[in-house]
Amino acid sequence: MNQPKITEEIISANAKQTDGQGQVIEIIHSDVKPSHLNALRVRGGNRLKGDIKISGAKNAALKHMCAALLTDQPVQFTNMPVTLGDVRTMAELLDYLGMTVALRSDGVAMLHAKEIKTTIAPYDLVRKMRASVLVLGPLLARCGQADISMPGGCAIGTRPIDLHLMGFKAMGAEIELDGGYVKARAPKGLKGAHITFPFVSVGATENVMMAATLAEGITVLSNAAREPEIVDQGNALIAMGAKIEGLGTSEIRIEGVSSLNGATHACIPDRIETGTYMCAVGLAGGEVRLKNTRTDFLASLIGPLIGAGMEIKQDGNDVFVHRNGSHLKGIDIMTEPYPGFATDLQAQFMAMMTMCKGAGMITETVFENRFMHVPELCRMGADITVQGNSAIIRGVEKLKGAEVMATDLRASVALVLAGLVAEGETVVNRIYHLDRGYENIVEKLTGVGADIERVSER
Ligand code: UD1
Repeated sequence: MNQPKITEEIISANAKQTDGQGQVIEIIHSDVKPSHLNALRVRGGNRLKGDIKISGAKNAALKHMCAALLTDQPVQFTNMPVTLGDVRTMAELLDYLGMTVALRSDGVAMLHAKEIKTTIAPYDLVRKMRASVLVLGPLLARCGQADISMPGGCAIGTRPIDLHLMGFKAMGAEIELDGGYVKARAPKGLKGAHITFPFVSVGATENVMMAATLAEGITVLSNAAREPEIVDQGNALIAMGAKIEGLGTSEIRIEGVSSLNGATHACIPDRIETGTYMCAVGLAGGEVRLKNTRTDFLASLIGPLIGAGMEIKQDGNDVFVHRNGSHLKGIDIMTEPYPGFATDLQAQFMAMMTMCKGAGMITETVFENRFMHVPELCRMGADITVQGNSAIIRGVEKLKGAEVMATDLRASVALVLAGLVAEGETVVNRIYHLDRGYENIVEKLTGVGADIERVSER
């Protein structure tokens, strides 16, 4: 595809024009879906067959958008999941800070922070999404100051941001907590530092890495996170002129530069969405081709899936996923930072295990409160016992449809997966979280034969 030229005309925060490539579908506003269709009804029993196109990675896309704050030049990203609630929430926040944001239906995001209008990210915008805190590093690096309301997001534990702040302090910033806001100041600019994180944090690694691109001197991040989304973010920053080495390892070295430039970068495929649909096939059975994605960054999921009895093969840019008639074997997994088993796939894996042969154990080591889907799965007939941060799942013969509700993104999708095999009708309420993180989930699942539709909450 020929990339469109980035022009001031295209990047107009209020224009809804096309350039022959794709329509500008959205400028700001995060309320995407009509509010009355806030539940999903699933009728279980269909095997899945067909193709699902995987979207760009939400957790990379959000960081790419924040990184555009680091330069006064236009930046363009392709393969972006532009219809996601979280992407729109981020667009809204960035627009407020002074960036012009155009999100196009063909997955192109055009971002231009020519000037920063304000360095204050208010509660109303930040409370919806924890990733909002990732504007802190770029604002502090570019403007020498930032006031960010403490973040909200999924209710999966206390989720402090002390490691982010530790990094900025080491780089010379003064940090104060006042009235629910983090107030960070570095009037003379940030200075390179050697920062050793006491444990691995994805967000702290990303936030501090972004800030370090414009700091004076060299920053070394030890015990850094190694997630593919961080590598992707680092590659985008390198395309913008940053000097970064060690991406994908636990030691990242960043040599600060005086300014960054515009660039074009393609966002990686969403490995969590990919893994979610793999678990869907594992539970419902069938054969599905996941298009535009990769297996290399999902080794920790694919190993157990194959061990449990599935067939998974990379075929060019597609991944073929198959489970025949027989049920999967029970398997034990433990969540860990990458390259370990992703905590963001734990709930989906558990839903898949509910109907396994034998039993499986899941241990959650990343977040302390991430079993909220368990009582809901049990209401559908699952046999799960939680002890501390471990859950034992004993396979049952069948699940039964029920009205269920979840309070975090991945838990919500786990309930949808359970609905795919449950007898009768499952209604998943409060799908607000689902729309934050899964593009066109109803269309994608319907396309492979699932019986699922949006309905109004009863
Ligand atoms: C990111 C992902 C999220 C994923 C998580 C772990 C995005 C937008 N979100 O979240 O989907 O589940 O990585 O893979 O990319 N912690 C602290 N202090 C801090 C920072 C983190 O104690 O300053 C703790 C957290 O509470 C958690 C653990 O560290 O227990 C890991 O969190 P972290 O890796 O930072 O996750 P996020 O970046 O928030």
